[in-house]
Amino acid sequence: MSELTPDLLHELVAEARLAPSVHNIQPTRWRLLGDGRLALVDDISVRAPVADPAGHDVLVSHGAALEGMSLALNRRGLAITAMTTIEQPLSPQLAALCSFAIRQGVAPDPLAEHVAHRMSWRGRFVASPDDTAPLVQLAVARDDLICISHRRTIADIAGWADQAEFSFVHGDDYRAELLDWMRLSPSHPHYLLDGLNRDVLAMSAVEATAARFVLGSLFRPLDRLGLAAALLADRAKTASASAIVLFCRPVGEDPLTTGRHFYRSWLEIDRAGLAACPISALADHPDFNERLRKLGKVGADLRLVNVFRVGRPAKPLKPRHYRMPVDRLIV
Ligand SMILES: Cc1cc2nc3c(=O)[nH]c(=O)nc-3n(C[C@H](O)[C@H](O)[C@H](O)COP(=O)(O)O)c2cc1C
Repeated sequence: MSELTPDLLHELVAEARLAPSVHNIQPTRWRLLGDGRLALVDDISVRAPVADPAGHDVLVSHGAALEGMSLALNRRGLAITAMTTIEQPLSPQLAALCSFAIRQGVAPDPLAEHVAHRMSWRGRFVASPDDTAPLVQLAVARDDLICISHRRTIADIAGWADQAEFSFVHGDDYRAELLDWMRLSPSHPHYLLDGLNRDVLAMSAVEATAARFVLGSLFRPLDRLGLAAALLADRAKTASASAIVLFCRPVGEDPLTTGRHFYRSWLEIDRAGLAACPISALADHPDFNERLRKLGKVGADLRLVNVFRVGRPAKPLKPRHYRMPVDRLIV
């Protein structure tokens, strides 16, 4: 077993926090236990209850953070061992979800070097026929990924994505929660810390101001005029993707495990030289989930957990991660 010093824990958490989380809410905290084990801790005050009523995406986000910790350890020749899932309340705000010991001696994981580079790409993609081959290879290598690269089908899915997203955005409480996690002006006190800021949303200052009104006070009047859906459409960006990738995991799988694989799949996409963005609305909407299951011939034993649009970004990726300071993540 290997011992964690405070300095090492700080370095590990700095890397683990680069994992994706729904709306960038960053629900994961870490606690070093008296017996030298490390606990993954859920900050239960950090939620998106309207977009994620079952809390599944929060658990998937914790799973991604756990994989982030595993990759950070791997870079130092260390690995997670003797993991136990616990679900133990630590305070009214914190609950430990699992704990593990750390051992030495592990083969290098090629995905570890992609952690700092991966990011959500919400801009357009440039079409390149060369991009499909690595994705098809990836789908062969990983039985939880299904790659759809037929152009007409991608265009259809782009339309479905807008319909699915709009059906959720129609709810007043959904829009209010989304706006609450958006940081549309650099003067927002959490602009650099969490949530979705203008930079990661690939929005100009004017677009950000427009988004505030379209999702806020002007939504109902614009919707009555039949304009809201068109103003919020993301169809062109989705349609520019080289592929739509379905992420499917076994029905009934522990969501922490699902989250670990979600992150690894995304890192594999980065390793293939491509960028991705999830479109959760397609998986969350029962009708579109069913349509995609049929299209991808997803077996009954698998759950369609999420959907990525994937391609070559129109501009080179400049990785940036807006995250909470490490000191606030160690509790
Ligand atoms: C479970 C889950 C669902 C997500 N769903 C969406 C989504 O529907 N749309 C989107 O733009 N980003 C989605 N994301 C991406 C997060 O918003 C993103 O990971 C977070 O903002 C951190 O940014 P980064 O990925 O650039 O590091 C999702 C992430 C996770 C973990």
